[in-house]
Amino acid sequence: MKGRITYGNRAFADYAGYTEAEFLGQPHSLVRHPDMPRSVFKLLWDRISQHHEVFAYVKNMAKDGSHYWVMANVTPSFDVAGQLVGYFSVRRRPNAKTLPAVTALYKKMLEIENVPDAREGMHLSAEFLTAQLAQNNTDYDHFILALEAL
Ligand SMILES: Cc1cc2nc3c(=O)[nH]c(=O)nc-3n(C[C@H](O)[C@H](O)[C@H](O)COP(=O)(O)O)c2cc1C
Repeated sequence: MKGRITYGNRAFADYAGYTEAEFLGQPHSLVRHPDMPRSVFKLLWDRISQHHEVFAYVKNMAKDGSHYWVMANVTPSFDVAGQLVGYFSVRRRPNAKTLPAVTALYKKMLEIENVPDAREGMHLSAEFLTAQLAQNNTDYDHFILALEAL
């Protein structure tokens, strides 16, 4: 519920470069890359905590400092009583053709976020993203899925 890792498969261990003993129980920001705009994670948490799934491109940092991109599909998990009990993220290899556009978008968002007041920066970068998407007549999920289809 709070982003602590309770499970990870072999592929995650291989890509991230951590053993299961090292990653279990750690916050997921263990693999956070400084190139990622904060507002992407805000969007992710807003969506999943409201019981919606989300698709997102995420640049992660492995233990050795190298990076790897994932196309994540994060979904809420519910118990038999319908209570939210956690989240599950399935990552796919992103379509490499999309990465220049996503990299440029995130770079711009990061620049916008880079102001003294972090909250204000995050707000401004979320607004920028919303405006970009509106201009293209789409929302974040459809934008990501359209990129995947390139
Ligand atoms: C299921 C799930 C998967 C996540 N996967 C990642 C991930 O691969 N990389 C990442 O940086 N954050 C991921 N997050 C978000 C982190 O919990 C965190 O919000 C993010 O790393 C920003 O951390 P910070 O607020 O400490 O900067 C995930 C969260 C959930 C619930």
